[in-house]
Amino acid sequence: MADGNAEIAGMALAGQRIVVTGAAGQLGTYLVRALADAGATPIAFGHREGPNVDTAVDIADPRAIDRAIDEAEPDAIIHAAAMTDVDGCEKDAAAADRINHLGADNVAHAAARSGAWLLAVSTDFVFSGAAPPYVEDAPTDPISVYGSSKRAGEMAVLEASDTFAIARTAWVYGGKGKHFPRSILNLLAARPTIEVVEDERGNPTFAGDLAKSLVRLVELRQPGIVHLTNQGTTSRFELARQVASLAGLDPERIQPTSVEAFLLQYPLPARRPADSSLKNERAAAVGVTLRPWSDALASHMPQLANELQSGQK
Ligand SMILES: NC(=O)c1ccc[n+]([C@@H]2O[C@H](COP(=O)([O-])OP(=O)(O)OC[C@H]3O[C@@H](n4cnc5c(N)ncnc54)[C@H](OP(=O)(O)O)[C@@H]3O)[C@@H](O)[C@H]2O)c1
Repeated sequence: MADGNAEIAGMALAGQRIVVTGAAGQLGTYLVRALADAGATPIAFGHREGPNVDTAVDIADPRAIDRAIDEAEPDAIIHAAAMTDVDGCEKDAAAADRINHLGADNVAHAAARSGAWLLAVSTDFVFSGAAPPYVEDAPTDPISVYGSSKRAGEMAVLEASDTFAIARTAWVYGGKGKHFPRSILNLLAARPTIEVVEDERGNPTFAGDLAKSLVRLVELRQPGIVHLTNQGTTSRFELARQVASLAGLDPERIQPTSVEAFLLQYPLPARRPADSSLKNERAAAVGVTLRPWSDALASHMPQLANELQSGQK
């Protein structure tokens, strides 16, 4: 465990070995950095070999994950690997179950067996969106295969040990890969105007802020479910306009539409919650909150602009 001096110096995880699953993903990349900043030794588990991956392992393979965790000898694990393609999950429910449910179950059993503490990342999509804002113990009622498979993963984690934790988050952006602010800027580079839905609401969350707050929860070892997002709720339309303004583009180039009208033009297999806004009560009670979403977005925009300028799509 961390000693008092290390904690005072902001190195509360000094000496701890922390496995991150999904380490090459959007959130995982920030998690590895935030853990190193907190003095921990991060051990990056990825789906396949790569520059930022220490161990390539398929979480859906119980023997492989057992072996990898035995070798890593972690004090704690942050489980961020998932099948995150919501429409892909709808089209292949067996794969979603294998990765999001059984994958979480495999990680949870390996953690319990090895004595490592586990924090698993989950989603606002465990809710239908009909009764926001959602507190941590609100009844779950997923309306997509992705949401159901993530909920099954949550239950597997909580059943494996009552000391383990779940952190639900939402609308994550930052780093490489596809995310909403980057998609909006790419669309605006290609077309004079675009339409964005105004009747889908949630909490935009910067992966860098989320990673730091997850690391704080690892320090605290708080069990049970927490809701962690940047503060405040907005619509996809308002978020898109904010992205445009911060990029120095005319926000009027973004016009509002409804989910119903959008889906007539661009049908999607999976339903999304209309308003899956999460309320952070439990993490806030121990002092863990994130800044307002608009502040986080504003501070991330220069990096996003650089990424786009250097040709990253
Ligand atoms: N993105 C969001 O808006 C959002 C919102 C709420 C909650 N979350 C949750 O936040 C967590 C992190 O999401 P993210 O945005 O960082 O997603 P991401 O960029 O898609 O990262 C997920 C990572 O998991 C890996 N993975 C997938 N299947 C795997 C398997 N069978 N074995 C090992 N690794 C596997 C992926 O590798 P490959 O790509 O190589 O398969 C990827 O690197 C997930 O639990 C997600 O459900 C995300």
